[in-house]
Amino acid sequence: MIKAAYPGSFDPITFGHIDIARRASHLFDELHVVVMENKQKKYAFTVEERMEMVRECLKDVPNIRVESFSGLLAEYTLKNEINVVIRGLRAVTDFEYEMQMALANKEILNGVETVFLMTDKSFSFLSSSLVKEVASFGGKISQWVPSYVESKVFEKFAR
Ligand code: PNS
Repeated sequence: MIKAAYPGSFDPITFGHIDIARRASHLFDELHVVVMENKQKKYAFTVEERMEMVRECLKDVPNIRVESFSGLLAEYTLKNEINVVIRGLRAVTDFEYEMQMALANKEILNGVETVFLMTDKSFSFLSSSLVKEVASFGGKISQWVPSYVESKVFEKFAR
């Protein structure tokens, strides 16, 4: 059985993330979508809120498990006997950071491979930060996130 992990902040999950998770779920027997919690980072949503949105958006995919983790990704993969990490690549600007992470993970835990999936071209510019920024000014985000996430984002920014 080949298990993969798709880690990220998912703050919030977007159609870009959903596309990558669904495609990765077809490539592996089990996919863990891992909502990472880093105490140094500021998130708009709590880890529970982020997990709930991820769960809701991917609930129809039987081989996806939604988990959260605070710590090194390599530690998560070791604990869960996962040998593949999935990351989405949008543009060449993602490459340097992603290469650094992939090499660091390999250095920390020899045996863990990172597999990159190219984003769908319609989401190549899309990020959680963009969604939050547009929403914070009351702009339309329904083309970037499912309606469930859209309502959670507006609820958060209305406060
Ligand atoms: O969605 P993001 O914010 O681009 O995801 C980045 C994330 C959370 C996958 C990355 O920061 C991460 O793996 N953090 C866990 C800490 C870790 O393992 N760091 C070493 C690799 S650089």
